[in-house]
Amino acid sequence: MFENEIIETPTPAQKAAIERFLSEMDNEFEQPLSTRMPIADYLEKLLKYGHIIMAKYGQDYAGMVAFYCNDIQNQIGFLSILAVKPRYRGQGLGTTLFLTMLHAMRKAGMKCAQLGTSANNPSVRLYERLGFETIHQYREGAEYNRVMMEYVFPIS
Ligand SMILES: CC(C)(COP(=O)(O)OP(=O)(O)OC[C@H]1O[C@@H](n2cnc3c(N)ncnc32)[C@H](O)[C@@H]1OP(=O)(O)O)[C@@H](O)C(=O)NCCC(=O)NCCS
Repeated sequence: MFENEIIETPTPAQKAAIERFLSEMDNEFEQPLSTRMPIADYLEKLLKYGHIIMAKYGQDYAGMVAFYCNDIQNQIGFLSILAVKPRYRGQGLGTTLFLTMLHAMRKAGMKCAQLGTSANNPSVRLYERLGFETIHQYREGAEYNRVMMEYVFPIS
């Protein structure tokens, strides 16, 4: 049974555990996080400007979603990271975390959600299944085949 933990002001132990989670997941990304910036700095950035939700399985952090809702002018929320440890995959946790993020973005007044990923990342299927569409293709560093995907929240 997975439980969500919203991280706002983490204890030093929580912060260390999230950093460990990110380090463990580093090579799961086509472009490892640590090639962009040191993992500790990335976590500081998320804590300062973003939102973090961790999924716990007992005492273990099984998954994580982090995102930004700072673009108040355009009301665009942006996914920073979605990751599930390999041993917990394929049970819907990634989808649940992603849906929790969409709900939080909407609550924060965002009109749409965006994300950037590699066009051949298998997670694209997950995003498409949830209604995301590719709005832009671009190159980032050595990655030629990146896509920007978007989901516009229905007006309620
Ligand atoms: C993407 C990820 C979070 C999915 O987590 P998950 O808990 O297995 O997700 P779910 O069980 O909810 O759904 C699995 C779906 O993810 C897709 N998927 C993405 N990456 C996958 C992978 N490496 N293995 C299996 N399925 C994967 C599958 O298409 C599947 O879709 P389906 O339901 O149509 O079959 C996880 O595979 C992961 O952490 N990957 C490495 C990090 C990454 O690439 N993150 C996204 C970068 S933008």
